[in-house]
Formats: sequence, C-alpha cells, structure tokens
Amino acid sequence: MADPYDLVVIGSGPGGYVCAIRASQLGLRTAIVEKRATYGGTCLNVGCIPSKALLHASELYEEAGHGFARMGIKVSPELDLTRMLAFKDEGVKGNVDGVAFLLKKNKVDAFHGTGRILKAGRVEVTTAAGERQVVEAHSIVIATGSDVARLAGLEIDEEEIVSSTGALSFAKVPERLLVVGAGVIGLELGSVWRRLGSSVTVVEYLDRILPGMDGEVASALERLFSKQGLAFRLGTKVVGVERIEGGLDVSLEPAKGGAQDHIEADAVLVAIGRVPFTDGLGLDDVGVVRDARRRIVVNGQFETNVTGIYAIGDVIAGPMLAHKAEDEGMAVAEILAGQAGQVNHDVIPSVIYTTPEVASVGKTEDELKAVDVAYTVGKFPFTANGRAKVNRTTEGFVKILADADTDRILGVHIIGANASELIAEAAVIMEFGGSAEDLARTCHAHPTLSEAVKEAALAVAKRAIHM
Ligand code: FAD
Ligand code: NAI
Repeated sequence: MADPYDLVVIGSGPGGYVCAIRASQLGLRTAIVEKRATYGGTCLNVGCIPSKALLHASELYEEAGHGFARMGIKVSPELDLTRMLAFKDEGVKGNVDGVAFLLKKNKVDAFHGTGRILKAGRVEVTTAAGERQVVEAHSIVIATGSDVARLAGLEIDEEEIVSSTGALSFAKVPERLLVVGAGVIGLELGSVWRRLGSSVTVVEYLDRILPGMDGEVASALERLFSKQGLAFRLGTKVVGVERIEGGLDVSLEPAKGGAQDHIEADAVLVAIGRVPFTDGLGLDDVGVVRDARRRIVVNGQFETNVTGIYAIGDVIAGPMLAHKAEDEGMAVAEILAGQAGQVNHDVIPSVIYTTPEVASVGKTEDELKAVDVAYTVGKFPFTANGRAKVNRTTEGFVKILADADTDRILGVHIIGANASELIAEAAVIMEFGGSAEDLARTCHAHPTLSEAVKEAALAVAKRAIHM
C-alpha cells in the first residue's frame, strides 16, 4: 500500500475543497473523496450558484418588463425557460470545472466514490460500480455537508413536491406554487418563480418570516415581499398534500391548532431547513459523537472526540453557509500544518439574494436585549441616498447597532440594492473591533450606496447629514 497521506478530506463542497487546497499549499500530501460526479458540493451544484444564476436572470426579466420603460428603454421580454435553465447550468459547469482545475493545480489526489471511515487514519472509498479501496492518512476531515429536512406526509418527488433542488429545474413555470417555510430558500426561490409568473403562497409555521434575523428587518421585508406579490400564511402548518385532478390539494392548519383549510397548488416547495449529512460514514462504528441535532461535535480546533478525525462546514454547529464552511476548511488545514488557524464565528455575514437584498453581520437587537447589553442604533434609509435615488432603488435601510459605552459595532443589518456587497465593510470593521466613529470617519466615495453605511454610522451619534 502507498505511503499514507497527511490528510484525506471527505466531501468536496466549499468546506472540503478549500481545506484540501489550503492543506496542499502548506505542504501536506492531501487527498479528497467525493461521491458526486462533480466537485463543489451542495453550494456549486444545487445551492448557492444555481440559485443565484436564476435570481439574477429572473430579476433582469422582471426589470425588463417593469423597470426599463421608465428609463426610456422599450422592450417586451418573453421568457424562454429552457434557455434560462441552460444559462444556470452553464454557470454551474463553469464553477465545478474551476474547482476540478484548482484541485489538480494544487496536486490534491482525488478519489471518486463514497467515503466510509473504518477507523482513525483509514477511509474506505466505494465507487459507483462497487469497487473498493482504502485510503490511509494521518488526519481525516469530514466535510460531508447537509441534506434537505423532510416533512412527514410530503414525499419529495422533485417534480411536483420538490426540495430546493427540484425548484432549480421546474420544466415549466408552475401556475400556483406553495412554499413551505419562509426562510432563506423559500424567499429566494419563491421570488424567482413569482418573477417568472407563478402565483406564490408561502406557509410559515412561526408568526414571522426569517426567524433569527433582526425583527425590524424581517417585518420590513415581509411588507416589501407582500407588495411584490408573495402571499404569506404565517402561524400555519402544512399537514398533508394530496394529488387531485389538475394539481395538488394542500391541507393547512393553524400552528396552534384549529380548523383545517385547503389551498390548491401545481407544485409544493419544501424549504423547512437542512440537516447534517453523515449517512454511510460509519461514525457510530468509529465512535464519533454527535449532538441532539445530529451535528458532529468538535472542539475549538475542529477535532472530534476521536483523535485525528476533524469536521467542518454544514455537518457541525453554526450557520449553514458556504463561506463559514470555507473559513473552517482553511482554519483546520492551517491547524494541521502547525499554524494557528481560527474562525471568528461572531463575524459571519449572511445574505438573502432577493430584491432588495438583505445582509447582516453580528448581533440582532433581540440578541442584544437577551444578554442585557446597552446599545445605540444608527439608521439611514436608502430614500436619502443620492445613488439610490437616481437608480430608483430606494427601498430599505442600513441599521448599525453599537455598544452604548464603547461605541464598538455589534451588528449591522442592511436591506437594499447591493446589500450583499455593502456588508463586507461592516464585517471588516467588526473583525478589527472597530467603532461606529471609525466607520463614520472613513471617507466613502460619492455617489455610492456605501455612503448609506457611513451615514448610519454617523446616525449612531445622531449626526447623519443627509437626513
Ligand atoms: P456541501 O457543500 O454540502 O458538500 C458536501 C459534499 O460531500 C457533497 O459534494 C457530497 O456529495 C459529499 N459527500 C457527502 N457524504 C460523502 C461521503 N460519504 N463520501 C464522499 N463524499 C461525500 N450558502 C451561502 O453561503 N450562500 C448562498 O447563497 C447559499 N445558497 C444556497 C442555496 C440553496 C438552494 C441551498 C440548498 C444551500 C445554499 N447555501 C448557501 C448553503 C451552502 O450550500 C452550504 O452551506 C454549503 O454548501 C456547505 O458546504 P459544505 O462543504 O459543508 O458541504
Ligand atoms: P431556514 O432555516 O432558513 O428556514 C426554514 C423556515 O421553515 C423557518 O422559517 C422555519 O420556521 C420554517 N419551518 C420549519 N418547519 C416548518 C413547518 N413544518 N411548516 C412551515 N414552516 C416551517 O431553511 P431553508 O430556507 O430551508 O434553508 C436552509 C439553509 O440553507 C439556510 O438556513 C441557510 O443556511 C442555507 N441557505 C443559505 C442561503 C444564502 O445564504 N443566501 C440561500 C439558501 C439556503
């Protein structure tokens, strides 16, 4: 048998492939195991990348139909869904091929098949054809990601009752789409199909959308999405779906109990969260401990209770986000190479790529209240920002939460065009422990949307200029 690798990574999503590349850069002999035909995991194949391609294309379609005319551009857009789906698939291919190139360039050995840990240091790989081989390595990193959470009574067939994966590839626009879950996937993919012509109803168990997000931001979003045409049924649960002539009959019930009612739909998207994926990994045989939510338990160095076995990304605790997985991948590679890799889990931005976009980093007001931290709020609306006014993208605001004693920025929440890009400066300043004053005194180019971030920082000390 060949010499053992320094590291074998199981799973080639954003966590796994970044970990493998960084380990190789640092001189570790590295292998990666992937059961899918292409690299890049959920994110590149059926997650971040294809959903953003459809969000982009459908936003332009809607803009062409409703927004261009006021700028003096006359067009009559017509949807070619087959081409739009091909546009998405081309984007996915470009990205997964890019990862294959990077792994090769960085001399990471790839094994195609399902990995199963036999014991610390030994991973058995079974190919789709059933051939087995054992890969030996001093360390193992589990980066097997997550899978769709299922709802009892709703069998996902990826055609009529779909998960996010099926909702990325509907062969025709469903006339009536019912979305279960007003979370990130429900709102992003619900928006895509609404823009393309579906009548969309979002059923949410809780009495608000986007649990976990700042309450004021979530309420503002609910109003904006309702105005766009998404119908919300909050405080409601789906209790069953039956196939009837010409569609699906969805039974609903108040979350607190009560009389049932029904909605007819042509398709149902189940988007009630994701669960860590560890099927077939052999974790119980090896004795790797998981918590009550089936997440692999790791210490501050990303090591499990079994020496030499590490885990990162969606399969461990924390937000299920690609950049969180990537940073953990990088950190564990550095730790294995003897460096001081670490991730600041207090500063992980999150974005919802709807129109307008939503982005946040750090604490929400509810979280600060819960721990009794005194804070000040600086808020600035895009209606008062010159660039937003001229572009007619005035929906939303920037909200900055700063420590009332020290002025240190504790949280930033943005609803508005390009919020996904604007949040980066908030993350940088928070990573450096910066204050609202630091941000307010930083010169921002004019005319840019980023001036709204500066104005919100000025507003913390009640000295915004343009309001
Ligand atoms: P994954 O990307 O899930 O990769 C795990 C890989 O491991 C998979 O390729 C799988 O095939 C492989 N694998 C599993 N078991 C084995 C085994 N035993 N042997 C070999 N291989 C195995 N996050 C964002 O930050 N931004 C977004 O815009 C965003 N959009 C999303 C949209 C959708 C529709 C979905 C579903 C998710 C989205 N996410 C987004 C979340 C993001 O995709 C995940 O957080 C991210 O992919 C997690 O990375 P990971 O490396 O932990 O796991
Ligand atoms: P989610 O956790 O964001 O939202 C699920 C929603 O479903 C919640 O509002 C929850 O209260 C509700 N819910 C749960 N059970 C329900 C039930 N029985 N009936 C009705 N509602 C119910 O999960 P989602 O949207 O599936 O996304 C999974 C994860 O994927 C996200 O948490 C996120 O980490 C990741 N993701 C990230 C994206 C981004 O960064 N832009 C985009 C898409 C996904």
